[in-house]
Amino acid sequence: MSASKPRIRILDQRPETDAILDEVCHGLRQRPRRLPSKYFYDAAGSALFERICAQPEYYLTRSELAIMREHVAAMAASLGPEVLLIEYGSGSGQKTRHLLHALGSPVAYVPVDIAPAALSASGTALALEFPDLEILPICADFTTRVTLPRTRRPARRRAVYFPGSTLGNFDAHGSVRLLRQIREAVGSAGAALIGIDLKKDRAALEAAYNDVAGVTAAFTLNMLARFNRELGADFDLAGFRHRAIYNSLAGRIETFIVSRSAQDVHIGGECFHFAAGEAMLVEYSCKYTAEDFARLAAMAGLRVEHCWTDAAQRFSVQYLVPMP
Ligand code: AVJ
Repeated sequence: MSASKPRIRILDQRPETDAILDEVCHGLRQRPRRLPSKYFYDAAGSALFERICAQPEYYLTRSELAIMREHVAAMAASLGPEVLLIEYGSGSGQKTRHLLHALGSPVAYVPVDIAPAALSASGTALALEFPDLEILPICADFTTRVTLPRTRRPARRRAVYFPGSTLGNFDAHGSVRLLRQIREAVGSAGAALIGIDLKKDRAALEAAYNDVAGVTAAFTLNMLARFNRELGADFDLAGFRHRAIYNSLAGRIETFIVSRSAQDVHIGGECFHFAAGEAMLVEYSCKYTAEDFARLAAMAGLRVEHCWTDAAQRFSVQYLVPMP
């Protein structure tokens, strides 16, 4: 009877397969070739990402969870009661649970994620844990303009929660644009809570993106498997490898898929030739100092009001409000 699973309706605002194919082929025509990191997250990729979070070298998730546990009351106090909480790249929603428990009668929770599997799993789990909370998941690329659904109760304030340092996946231009969009989405009375990974020594950073168990390598190469499956491409998975290096000048981990030999790949009726050793850029994971991030936020019209960090200063969660 009451053991039945709550039903969560997901609003589908996903890109069409044709649009994905266009974007992939466009990236493959560029030099150096590049593929958008958002395509990591099919069902297999989302599951692999969860396994990355459990690797001993990937300190990000553990550090951020520690910050959430320690400072969630202060975060909730900053956000205030009756907020409409919008989350970008919600994934498993592990960190969000802490926030939702601390918030005073949140009006609704709107997780936005490109992975339908992750959305329905986390939506169902959160509905069991928060039976009175209105949960309105949206399957979409959050860089596009997402249409917010109507909520049962009016919100006092809108807030975007953007954990995980996912903002780091965007270059300087893209991150300012996304922050501006967040500012617009929450309005002048709104707020944002953003997880940001901090600059640290190269060894720690490179280890986090090259775990010994090889989970990150599998996650990276899964993008090619996905294109084979969904777009009819013929990437030979054994013919490519993962490479992640810290570009200290740019302050970011750069992840590449490297062709092990000279080879041809077919996709969307086109043939792409890869030279031996040719590297395709698939992900940036930008790292910031508190000052770097405050400057970036200011360019988007946002002011950092609080910056919480873990004891080892590895990671930060920052509370932002629109500048007048
Ligand atoms: C989920 C985007 C924050 O960039 O650190 C983990 C993804 N890539 N290992 C990150 C990722 C390789 C992750 N984000």
